[in-house]
Amino acid sequence: MMLHLKALSPFARGGNRLCFVHPLHPDRCIKVRRPDFTLADLRRTKGFPKNLRPLSWFDDNQEEFRVMEDIAARLGEPAFALVSRCYGFEGTDMGLGLTSELIRDGDGRIARTLKQHIWDNGYSNDLKTAVQGFGEAWAAIGVPSRDLLVHNLVVQCESDGSIRRLVAIDGLGSASAIPDRWLPRSALLARSARKVANLHERIANLMAARARNEFPGTHGLLIHDGLNVPAAPSVDKEPT
Ligand SMILES: Nc1ncnc2c1ncn2[C@@H]1O[C@H](COP(=O)(O)OP(=O)(O)O)[C@@H](O)[C@H]1O
Ligand SMILES: [Mg+2]
Repeated sequence: MMLHLKALSPFARGGNRLCFVHPLHPDRCIKVRRPDFTLADLRRTKGFPKNLRPLSWFDDNQEEFRVMEDIAARLGEPAFALVSRCYGFEGTDMGLGLTSELIRDGDGRIARTLKQHIWDNGYSNDLKTAVQGFGEAWAAIGVPSRDLLVHNLVVQCESDGSIRRLVAIDGLGSASAIPDRWLPRSALLARSARKVANLHERIANLMAARARNEFPGTHGLLIHDGLNVPAAPSVDKEPT
């Protein structure tokens, strides 16, 4: 069955994808390629020799799906305390969409990113504790990931505002040319630990930018909260 997304309002836009609440499952999201920034556009931004690679090489959704299958097989259930679950592909009127667990707070609103939490409220002790716990578990399990970015982690809160957990919703997979399964476990663990150290550095940089009141960029800012959904902009509708 083909899902109709064009007429819906996405809840967020990343650098590459638009994210919608799944029309049939409010506890899932579905991510499609941004129509205003296609795979061909993305490839054009790359220099030689990367720009010689086939379009499929640049497809985030395919790469993420492959890695999520690997995480499920190799690391199993403990990883899903830290990473949103992936449910596979569905056809939509905006191309193939990848479905995954939509992280919502206890009050039903879509969880906000670590970046937005820090930007809005600073780096509270409770948030520090949650980041510390997330980082320790991440490094102990050895979750394969690219850099852990503050807009690719969401902070799931209880309905009273206390923090339940941090969840990685993007950035999984390896940016290196060597497939993970070829590396010894010690190398994988060391790499995960490095990603966690870099995350702490990024948080410090974000705090410094906040102190200077620098514009943090709109990626990962929620367009709606999943409860109060605005009508889709009329420019997205088919001409009549
Ligand atoms: N599973 C999810 N649960 C809650 N929010 C999500 C989820 N997936 C994405 N988001 C939100 O959507 C934004 C963009 O999604 P993302 O997957 O990072 O897209 P891109 O691949 O383009 O960077 C994220 O920064 C986050 O705010
Ligand atoms: Mg992202």
